[in-house]
Amino acid sequence: MCGIVAYSGYRKATEVLVQGLSRLEYRGYDSSGLCVWDGKQISLRKKVGRIDQLSKLLAAQPVDGAVGISHTRWATHGEPTDANAHPHFDQSGKLALVHNGVIENYQQLKEKLMAEGHEFKSQTDTEVLAHLVGKCYEEQKGAQSPLTAAIKAALVQVTGTYGIAVMHEDHPGVIVGARRGSPLIVGVGKKEYFLASDVTALVAYTHDVIYLNDFDIVEISGAGYHIDSLTQAVNEHHITTVDWDADAASRGAFPHFMLKEIFEQPQSIQNAIRGRLSTEEATAHFGGLNLEPRELRQINRILVTACGTAMHAGMVGEYLIEEHARIPVEVEFASELRYRNSPMDENTAVFVVSQSGETADSLAAMREVKRKGHRALGICNVVGSTIARESDGGIFLHAGPEVGVAATKSFTSQATIFLMLSLYFGRLRHLSPVVGMRILKAIQDLPSKIQEVLDTNEGIRLVAEKYAGAKSMLFLGRQANYPIAMEGALKLKEISYIHAEAYPSAELKHGVIALISPELPTLVICPQDGVYEKNISNIQEVKARKGPVIAVATAGDTHIKKMVDDVIYVPEVDPCVQPILNAIPLQLFAYHIAVKLGCDVDKPRNLAKSVTVE
Ligand code: G6P
Repeated sequence: MCGIVAYSGYRKATEVLVQGLSRLEYRGYDSSGLCVWDGKQISLRKKVGRIDQLSKLLAAQPVDGAVGISHTRWATHGEPTDANAHPHFDQSGKLALVHNGVIENYQQLKEKLMAEGHEFKSQTDTEVLAHLVGKCYEEQKGAQSPLTAAIKAALVQVTGTYGIAVMHEDHPGVIVGARRGSPLIVGVGKKEYFLASDVTALVAYTHDVIYLNDFDIVEISGAGYHIDSLTQAVNEHHITTVDWDADAASRGAFPHFMLKEIFEQPQSIQNAIRGRLSTEEATAHFGGLNLEPRELRQINRILVTACGTAMHAGMVGEYLIEEHARIPVEVEFASELRYRNSPMDENTAVFVVSQSGETADSLAAMREVKRKGHRALGICNVVGSTIARESDGGIFLHAGPEVGVAATKSFTSQATIFLMLSLYFGRLRHLSPVVGMRILKAIQDLPSKIQEVLDTNEGIRLVAEKYAGAKSMLFLGRQANYPIAMEGALKLKEISYIHAEAYPSAELKHGVIALISPELPTLVICPQDGVYEKNISNIQEVKARKGPVIAVATAGDTHIKKMVDDVIYVPEVDPCVQPILNAIPLQLFAYHIAVKLGCDVDKPRNLAKSVTVE
């Protein structure tokens, strides 16, 4: 959701900025731009389109300097055009600003500024902020740090969210950043300092970072950094060392990040499991929940809130926790939870699930829950993210950076965490050691079973390509495979732009069946579980209406093969891990269709990986 990179040091700024932006391209990719201090003035280069368009512009019109700010955009106010791309200048043309977030009162501010003679070149809320800071700068010229003072004076007039980086010709070498609601990180190097929306933009240069808090304002130069706060007198910060390197965030030999991340799942699940299973006690353990077993036993209701794929993982969790721990679980879209008055009591535990830990709706829902005095626990991948830091405790996925916009490995890790939670909660209650061991063993075997599915990738590709011409598809599954069907449909929509809907298999007959025709393929998740026969009946209903059927079935099920058009087999596993395993062929199915259609798999149109606006 827009990415920011800023640099002050000794290197060629355009290289640092463009490289950083390409690492952040998952955050938005409709236009990009940068400003660099070239020794005489601030030079601007910006271009609609992907970052390679900006690189081409820079090749034709190079700009030299060691200080600059840059931005990759995901449009909110104003279409993607050269004019609307960031950075934006103030009225004087001496101050440049990049912004991630939404200035909600920009219209009022703009009218006021226009009445004072300000002229705007774009339709963005960001340009209004640039003008406002510029105006405040004129008023703060006598102050000790006039640029920082101007930004503070401007930000108190603003409602909305922002992560910003600002530079001014009168202060070459200095960049000021601030955040509220949109992430901003300081990279600490030797005689060079950085600002970025995400550590992935920085790891090629430094592993030492400071995660800024809301209302922090930071000044960087080649000589150091200084962090202040808009709201607090004392403001402590620590340098955190990032424990992965730039290679973890690169594609390697894979044609797409999505494929790389799908293939990383045996390892990412292993990372989620590591150190968390106890064969001695036949249970799972989590170091970061910050809750005593006694407190955990008192939990009598669980509320899971999340967006997109993370919400589907929460739904898998709902089935598993209710099954193994008998605790009622409700899953709510974060965007809904934050505005409704959901009844909760002191024994309700709230889990906020978010790969990035920055999704605006999830963060707002968590803050609302916490405001009411409830305990909020995070299930996040990104260490140092806002949700991870503001939650009362939580569980990290340890899945490594996920760059492909369509979430894959984070989903299976989140679902595995929920499975382990179900074991943990179950074993704190009635679940016997014998059943606990059965679940534990199934979790331990999951990575190798996933590898077995990945080994059949070529066969899945052949099946998928047959359906690349479909205009629409149905995904069916029962129980915990229903959210897997939802996730499969979401993957297909996101990356191939083929319309897809998911239903619990039996719901088919209550309306959707009207859509069945030879043109509408239906994918049915149909493992040999307790509802196998029921799913078979649903398949018959589709076939009777000449609908093509693809089944995801248990290895060795020859019966189903005779009934359907195509089968994708997955190994036989314990029912508790079956849904997680079934997610893998669905990810590959969507991937291969998107590749066949020539879609931009890692950067699907209109999407961004981390949605930090409401
Ligand atoms: C965006 C992404 C989805 C993702 C959702 C939640 O919409 O495009 O892929 O599932 O945000 O992201 P989070 O980082 O909170 O898991």
